[in-house]
Parts: sequence; C-alpha cells; structure tokens
Amino acid sequence: MRFVIVKDLSPETAKARTVKAVADVLKRVGKTEIFNFDTSLIEKLKKDDVVFNLAIGKRHDFLQGTISAIMEGLGNEFIGSPAYTHYICLDKFTTKSLLNSYSIPTPAGTLFDGRSFVSDIPEPPLIVKPVAEGSGIGVDSDSLCDSVEAAKKTAMEKFEKFKEPIMIEKYLNGTELTIGIIGFGSDLKVLPPLEIDFSNLPQGVEKFYSQMVKEKYASQTIYRCPAFLNEKVRNEVLDIAKKTFEITRARDYLRVDMRLDESQPYVIEVNSMPGLDPENSDIPKMVEAISRDYEWLIRYILRRAVRSLEVRG
Ligand SMILES: Nc1ncnc2c1ncn2[C@@H]1O[C@H](COP(=O)(O)OP(=O)(O)OP(=O)(O)O)[C@@H](O)[C@H]1O
Ligand SMILES: [Mg+2]
Repeated sequence: MRFVIVKDLSPETAKARTVKAVADVLKRVGKTEIFNFDTSLIEKLKKDDVVFNLAIGKRHDFLQGTISAIMEGLGNEFIGSPAYTHYICLDKFTTKSLLNSYSIPTPAGTLFDGRSFVSDIPEPPLIVKPVAEGSGIGVDSDSLCDSVEAAKKTAMEKFEKFKEPIMIEKYLNGTELTIGIIGFGSDLKVLPPLEIDFSNLPQGVEKFYSQMVKEKYASQTIYRCPAFLNEKVRNEVLDIAKKTFEITRARDYLRVDMRLDESQPYVIEVNSMPGLDPENSDIPKMVEAISRDYEWLIRYILRRAVRSLEVRG
C-alpha cells in the first residue's frame, strides 16, 4: 500500500501548508507520494494506492467531486467523501433541498437563476450569495439586504458578476457555529462545536463571515471551542450535524456550518472537503479542544481506509 496525495498544480500558501502537514503524518504511517492533479495522474496510480485528495481546483470545476468520481471508477481506495457528497454539497441550494426533505432546518431561501426566482423571497433581513462558492467568495457587505427590492437588485448584480445562480436566504442574526464530524458509518465522532464570534470586529464591518472578514479580520474574530451552548441546544446541534453527515452520505471528515435563530439551529452550508490547515482551519481547532493533536486527527480520518492503523482515543 502507498499513500498518494493529490494536490492542485500550484496550491496557495495555506493549501501548500496543508499538503505538507498531511504528508508528514502519512509518511509516518507508510510510503507516501505527492502528485499534481493532471492528465498523468491515472498512469502514475497503482491499484492499491490510497488517495488523499487535497486538490479543490478552481471556481466551478467541482474538482473535489471529480477526483472522488475518478477513484470510484478506477476502484482505488480514497480518503474523504464519495463524489455524490461533493456534488450535493458544492451546490448550496441542492444541499438545502435535500436537508429540508429530511426535516433538517435550513434558513428559508430561494434561488435566482438569472431570469426569475424559483420561489417566493422570504421576509427581510436577507442575505444574498452565489450558490456554489466557498471561502466567502461573493459574500460581501452588500450581501445583507433589509428589503426584498434591495435583495433582488443585489441578486442581479451578483449574477452578472459570478455568472452562476444566486441564493437569497433569510438572514439569521444568532450565534454562528461550525461542527466537524470525523469517522464513518455508525462510528462517528462529532467534535465540539466551534463558535465564530464577530462581536469584536470594528464598527461598520459586517458581523458575518464575508470574504473580507475571512481575509482581513481573522485576528479580531473570536473562535470559541467548545461554544457556549446550553445542553438542549448543544444536543440539537450535534444531532443535526450527525444526521447531515448521514443524509449527505459523507465519509471520514465533514464540516457543517450553522447559525442559531433564537435557540433553533439551522444548517447554512455543508463543507464536504473542509480545510485541514494546521494553523487556520476549523477542524484542527476543534481537535485541540479535545486535547488531541493534528497527527491524531489525520490518523482518525485514515481509520476507515487503513483498518490496521492504531488510533488512540
Ligand atoms: N442565512 C444566513 N444567515 C446568516 N448568516 C449567513 C447566512 N448565510 C450565510 N451567512 C454568513 O455568510 C458566511 C458565508 O456563507 P457560506 O458559509 O454559505 O459561504 P462560503 O463562502 O461557502 O463559506 P466557506 O468558506 O465556509 O465554504 C457564513 O459563514 C455566515 O457568516
Ligand atoms: Mg461556510
């Protein structure tokens, strides 16, 4: 058996750091190679290689799903979720529809397809965001709208800019949480909820995770893990996270973003390939809160594919 990390052709700093950190752990478990995702990948792969995908590709190419699909087609073992999960979760409106059909709460919302809205626009306040982006792309200060008219106008502008369907959702003003789940099948570990607190941001800066807040205000954003939640809300948050993992048929690791409205949790989006940057990503922060380290996390994620691996705790 050999591990193969698949990475983007030219990963940016945080991604390069993730590749190195994951590779360092894998090398302690077994032989490890790092390959770029390009046309030579399939020729270089051997039948018993276990692939760890760390390539997310560019906007709209849905590469993370495609790499899983290729591995499924080739019959190679791979770490992380199947193609089904990635394709569902990469589209926030599809995720919402799926979760709603299983009675998992998500904020009321609709989609602008460039011509019309597929259903009624909810009551303001509203948030307007592209349906299939990550890292806060398209979530800006103008995303928060206090009237239906403003939301329609913003949706049209964002459609022009991003050339993709735009979601309009009820803006939930409550606590922001993200929950990591690791494991597989019925053997899941739900990590302690991480609260992202925007109350310390300078006046005038939006109190949600816009692209600008992610990029410029990380040091003034408060990360609290475990989040302060009463037992009832906490149990509900954990239950929703676990059900979301099962409904989306995820494997090995997943992160579910939520917001509270009063004390009811709602799923905002599901990250099927959440960040594993040891310095900045959320899941490593949650693992720290249970007094485990990065090595433990990666080994835990490997457990399904490498059954013989010893992981304590
Ligand atoms: N319905 C909502 N109510 C309140 N805030 C919201 C809502 N939808 C999005 N947000 C805010 O916008 C942020 C970014 O939205 P979302 O998570 O959908 O985008 P993303 O760019 O895909 O994020 P990620 O980087 O986690 O992939 C959320 O973290 C949250 O702060
Ligand atoms: Mg998010």
